[in-house]
Amino acid sequence: MSETRPSPRKILVTSALPYANGSLHLGHVLEYIQTDIWARFQRARGHDCLYMCADDAHGTAIMLKAEQLGLTAEQHIANMQAEHERDFADFLIGVDNYHSTHSQENRELSAMIYQRLSENGHIASRTITQAFDPEKQLFLADRYIKGTCPRCSTPDQYGDNCEACGATYSPTELIDPVSAISGATPVEKESEHFFFTLPAFTNFLKDWTRSGTLQDEVANKLAEWLEEGLQEWDISRDAPYFGFEIPDAPGKYFYVWLDAPIGYMASLKNYCDQHGLDWQEYWKKDSNAEVYHFIGKDIVNFHALFWPAMLDSADFRTPTKVCVHGFLTVNGKKMSKSRGTFINARNYLDHLNPEYLRYYFAAKLTAGVDDLDLNLDDFIAKVNSDLVGKVVNIASRTAKFVSKSGGELATELADEKLWNQFVEAAPRIAEYYESREYARAMRDIMALADAANAWIADKAPWSLAKEEGKESEVLAICSQGVNMFRALMTWLSPVLPNTAAKASEFLNGELDWAAATTPLAGHQINKFKPLLQRVEKTQVDAVMEAAKESLAQLQAEAKPAGASGALDKGPLEDEPVAPQIEFDDFAKVDLRIALIAKAEHVEGAGKLLKLTLDLGGETRQVFAGIKSAYKPEDLEGKHTVMVANLAPRKMRFGVSEGMVLAAGPGGKDLWILEPHAGAKPGMRVM
Ligand code: 2FM
Ligand code: ZN
Repeated sequence: MSETRPSPRKILVTSALPYANGSLHLGHVLEYIQTDIWARFQRARGHDCLYMCADDAHGTAIMLKAEQLGLTAEQHIANMQAEHERDFADFLIGVDNYHSTHSQENRELSAMIYQRLSENGHIASRTITQAFDPEKQLFLADRYIKGTCPRCSTPDQYGDNCEACGATYSPTELIDPVSAISGATPVEKESEHFFFTLPAFTNFLKDWTRSGTLQDEVANKLAEWLEEGLQEWDISRDAPYFGFEIPDAPGKYFYVWLDAPIGYMASLKNYCDQHGLDWQEYWKKDSNAEVYHFIGKDIVNFHALFWPAMLDSADFRTPTKVCVHGFLTVNGKKMSKSRGTFINARNYLDHLNPEYLRYYFAAKLTAGVDDLDLNLDDFIAKVNSDLVGKVVNIASRTAKFVSKSGGELATELADEKLWNQFVEAAPRIAEYYESREYARAMRDIMALADAANAWIADKAPWSLAKEEGKESEVLAICSQGVNMFRALMTWLSPVLPNTAAKASEFLNGELDWAAATTPLAGHQINKFKPLLQRVEKTQVDAVMEAAKESLAQLQAEAKPAGASGALDKGPLEDEPVAPQIEFDDFAKVDLRIALIAKAEHVEGAGKLLKLTLDLGGETRQVFAGIKSAYKPEDLEGKHTVMVANLAPRKMRFGVSEGMVLAAGPGGKDLWILEPHAGAKPGMRVM
């Protein structure tokens, strides 16, 4: 960090640039809210803080998606950017500029930085061999190759890991590999690639990562990688690719991750050019500005290894801090498309006030990298209790008495001691914001709100108001109530910009951080209007319903028209119907309706659940390999179909007395049969 900080501080903040390839989800929103709160806090403190963003518009995935939609890549990324900007704006993210990595500024800056790396001897080139799709005529990254897992033989697995058994391998080990794009069998092909000589920066990075730029836990992780030894970084991709062609290398493009972080600079340059400012003031080597990148823990290597090394080689300053956050979980589970816990920004915005989520995230955000859970019941409870029940309540209980007496606040405080708690908290709350310990700031604010409410309840101005001659006492109490509300709203303003604006209308004056604990005295306020509604469970349910619908739509769209091979091989093609049998052969199999009376985990068994099946008179114990798809509690009480006359089989965990019927390839995609309502345990199935 630069030793001499100007006053006001000159600060540049960024959030990770979202891919221009899909809708934003609440994971993006978490990061943008974290960044926006910090930027708003800095501005509220009088600093000069610019928040720069852009869409990350390059790469194979974007090119293929545009093709699938029948659009040019440029049209596709323009549509995505418009959607992203709308979503962020509706979450009250106050970016100063939202640009694109597919911009003239970024093209020029990327070329310039690449040229400097090259002149400094930090670009190497060599020929490598890669999987190539002979039909589509393009090189295939691992995730575009599918095939049968070499360990467990589950078909349709991605190039580098198996979803069914968790094995990791190289795509060349896959059995029957196919291109996930065309279905063609990949061939090996050679091509020249360019590399950034990252190992040359090992010592520089060892120092840089330990110089206060990163959270300790992040620096520790990086230290492990640095010890293991860095590899050269492949920064080129062959045509066809959507990106910037590398100068003097026809048919070679910058890998998306090379020009993505340069997009931070490009967005700033674009902004500065429009506002008569000099972007280099922020990025030159001896700059006294501060630069903060907010990112998720999955992209630390790009921001804390490749990026500072590139900047150093290209004679730019490096970031002041890279602020890393954890992932968002929903109800304790990873946001996942298959679990239906994947919530788009718009799913939320269609039903709920953005400030609820801003507050909930703030109340849980720390400066650490732990994952943050959006627990929906807790969300409802917290927003209603803290924002509506505590903070807004202070104003709604006291404002009307001030209004009744003419709307002018008293000139004296009613309780100096209580007010002093607010005065003492002010610097602490600011420090919590500065260090991104928002949860602590929110806790302090709510503790003060509790103290204020308890004090007001104790003074009971509503009772005093009924007594003769207590008018000035009532006014003094309620004026202090309004002043306490004003201080709390000032401190909440980075989190709740809309409510803060409404509060300042009510208070008839700007919320000013520096003056938050100087009480307004003899000041005329306006009539109080409700500031915030309670969250209702039905609204949250509507979000989850919308999320499921978006997901279904996404999955339908994910099956590209005309694609053949790996992506849409049907079950019949995977496993053709077995040779014909006579009826008598079939009749030998005694299928019965069974009630799953009990379902349990089996200690030491990775795939099995132990089922106790009730056949209406007798019970059977069956070990079924369905653990990857079912939780025991989801099965108990359900009916299913079992093979009742299968010879008992001795297994490691006990004897299995039959078999339940299930369909699907395995893993999560496994579905046991369930009869229509009315079928009773023990009934024969024919
Ligand atoms: O991981 C991602 O979503 C990337 N699009 C983030 C890029 S951040 C920056 F480097 F541009
Ligand atoms: Zn496997």
